Amino acid sequence: MTTDPELVSAYGSPLYVYDAARVRAAARDLREAVPQPSRIYYSLKANPHPALVAELRRGGVHAEVTSRGELAAALEAGHPAGELLYSGPGKVAAELDEAVRAGVRAFSVESFGDLERVGAAAAAHDAVADCVLRINAAGAPGTAGLRMTGGPSQFGFDLDWLAKEADRLRVAGTRVVGLHFFPLTNSADEDGLIAELAQSVRTAAHLRDRLGIELELLDLGGGFACPYATAGERPVYRRLREALAEVLDENLPGWREGRPVVAFESGRYLVGDSGRLLSTVTDVKPSRGSTYAVLDAGINHLGGLSGLGRLLPLRAQPTGPARTPAAGEPAEPVTLAGPLCTPADILARAVELPGVRSGDLLAVPNVGAYGLTASLLGFLGHRAPAEVLVDGDRVVSATRLALQRRALEPGDGAADATDPSTARR
Ligand SMILES: Cc1ncc(COP(=O)(O)O)c(C=O)c1O
Repeated sequence: MTTDPELVSAYGSPLYVYDAARVRAAARDLREAVPQPSRIYYSLKANPHPALVAELRRGGVHAEVTSRGELAAALEAGHPAGELLYSGPGKVAAELDEAVRAGVRAFSVESFGDLERVGAAAAAHDAVADCVLRINAAGAPGTAGLRMTGGPSQFGFDLDWLAKEADRLRVAGTRVVGLHFFPLTNSADEDGLIAELAQSVRTAAHLRDRLGIELELLDLGGGFACPYATAGERPVYRRLREALAEVLDENLPGWREGRPVVAFESGRYLVGDSGRLLSTVTDVKPSRGSTYAVLDAGINHLGGLSGLGRLLPLRAQPTGPARTPAAGEPAEPVTLAGPLCTPADILARAVELPGVRSGDLLAVPNVGAYGLTASLLGFLGHRAPAEVLVDGDRVVSATRLALQRRALEPGDGAADATDPSTARR
């Protein structure tokens, strides 16, 4: 039972469908694309569904988490806490305490204050946290993609700040064991991506010498691309492996023996093309010369961040029933709107869907990454779509996320109140 109409009649519409075979293929392709030996982290921010995370874990992919929710999902998927990388800006004492208590020992730190807070959490449990310093370095010029660092940023240490205050790197409860880069994301331009990763390798070698860091782990991040909500294929990076191995040989000759361990991170490349969103047309209407098809899924279920002008622009390109329009039916391009009471709830404009009718089932491809998880799930209170993972003709997992309001007693949130003495650092 895996045709779209069968799945929708079993689990309802709208519905996210993830394909395990595609997840395995993406992991295989990424491993092929990067120099070996190396480690790959899956960034749960792209899609924290535990069944997808478990699929990747079985394929030898590690996990990078940035919150208590992602930590819980990674643990549920069977990752040992001691193998996780916990990263992200603004980590608060309570989540660090929970992470260390769960057994997490590797953190990416974004500032001296972050390092001190990680150290305080580790020391409180008589533990030592292995920290990689996230670096905000100038990237390679002219690289295409969505840039994360390179200018003023909440992410990472500026190089001169790090050099000037390097003595602040000695913090009880921590060991600085490496460096972390993630300068850009979604780069389909292979030459640009190679230039960016190579630049990070050179910066890492320079910093290791300048700061005297014992480089055990070099996380080069990623930037591996995948189409989003439109038809298309993941790029295949054919030259990156060799080109980057050469740069590593030149700058960090011990890397082939794991000194340092070289790591990459990816969210969208690993799961983006595994997912499709099935949605039903609930209404079709003309309006002042345009045709609107209203769907049962909007920016509350897909790409809410892009609906707000953040992330990638959303130009959903669904596939639907191809038919010749009957007399009187719209044959012109259609605007796809969601069910929310905001003009921002548009999934696509000028889509060619001749003869689209109420009741039609549309499929938006390539939304396994930054689909439901990057959406405005709470906005207007519609139910979340179900999510199913299929493997061949088997449904491996079927779940529905739910937001719940529950009553609190005074003091229930005390652990989350920020301690001003640590926040001021
Ligand atoms: C530190 C870090 N790691 C991983 C990712 C995942 O990026 P992508 O899904 O494009 O691979 C991001 C994206 O913003 C990031 O900032």
